[in-house]
Amino acid sequence: MQPLNAPLRDWAGLRVWIIGASSGIGAALAAEALQAGAHVALSARRADRLQAIAAGNTRALAVPFDILDRDAWTQRHADISAQLGGIDLIVFCAADYRPERSWDVNPERAALTLETNLGSVYTGLATVLPAMLERGSGGIAIVASVAGYFGLPNASVYGPSKAALINLAELLYVDLRPRGVSVYLINPGFVQTPLTAKNEFTMPALQTPQAAARAIREGIASGRFEIHFPRRFTLALKFVKWLPYRLRFPLISRLVKP
Ligand SMILES: NC(=O)c1ccc[n+]([C@@H]2O[C@H](COP(=O)([O-])OP(=O)(O)OC[C@H]3O[C@@H](n4cnc5c(N)ncnc54)[C@H](OP(=O)(O)O)[C@@H]3O)[C@@H](O)[C@H]2O)c1
Repeated sequence: MQPLNAPLRDWAGLRVWIIGASSGIGAALAAEALQAGAHVALSARRADRLQAIAAGNTRALAVPFDILDRDAWTQRHADISAQLGGIDLIVFCAADYRPERSWDVNPERAALTLETNLGSVYTGLATVLPAMLERGSGGIAIVASVAGYFGLPNASVYGPSKAALINLAELLYVDLRPRGVSVYLINPGFVQTPLTAKNEFTMPALQTPQAAARAIREGIASGRFEIHFPRRFTLALKFVKWLPYRLRFPLISRLVKP
């Protein structure tokens, strides 16, 4: 079967912008892309972390900013374009997560999570798409989550933000692929990062950020649309997703405290 995107096997010279590169999966993906010969612009708020990851690599560029600052997107995009001559692949990897039951949700915190996880992607798209569409090439990679497959208590705001990203990636694919722009939907299972350190339960099929980064690069290299891993875990969740509600709800209820 033909892959849904054009395979991107050679990363040498590829200009990659990673949003959320100061820790976890984004930092590991930056290292993976650099090792494969890409030019990598690393963004997040913590400049010291970005500089430490970029240190000593002439193909790495630390570009700190807050993704909630819309003007900063324009400025940072201009800075990177001036240095690298353009962007071939942007990876939206930043997120805000707080485990909370529905009755604990604070509306201000919820708005911040939604703006970080979803709103910022719209700002980013408005920033990078015009040049990609004009060129008729490029790649948009959106890191969503298996938490977006179906409603899970504890992911009261994070889960809906990831479900929205899955929907967004799907419509972007249909919109942009005919115009030469590839779209990748990345749905990781559990990965050991500062984000999941907040979880108080035992995470099944937990992966290292390095394994996650490798799976993402290999998925993009082979032109997949949905890149989900580890598959022994994500395929089981896909099965649960297709169960009728009357079977799925009792199954999920058994996983959470009453
Ligand atoms: N870990 C998992 O099990 C798992 C599973 C499924 C999906 N994911 C997804 O994978 C992605 C990476 O998560 P992770 O686990 O690697 O978490 P992480 O280590 O906490 O990384 C989150 C990144 O987002 C950045 N960020 C957050 N708010 C920002 C803001 N306002 N402006 C700029 N950058 C901001 C953080 O940098 P600064 O704090 O320096 O700004 C950090 O680099 C996320 O989209 C997450 O939802 C993770």
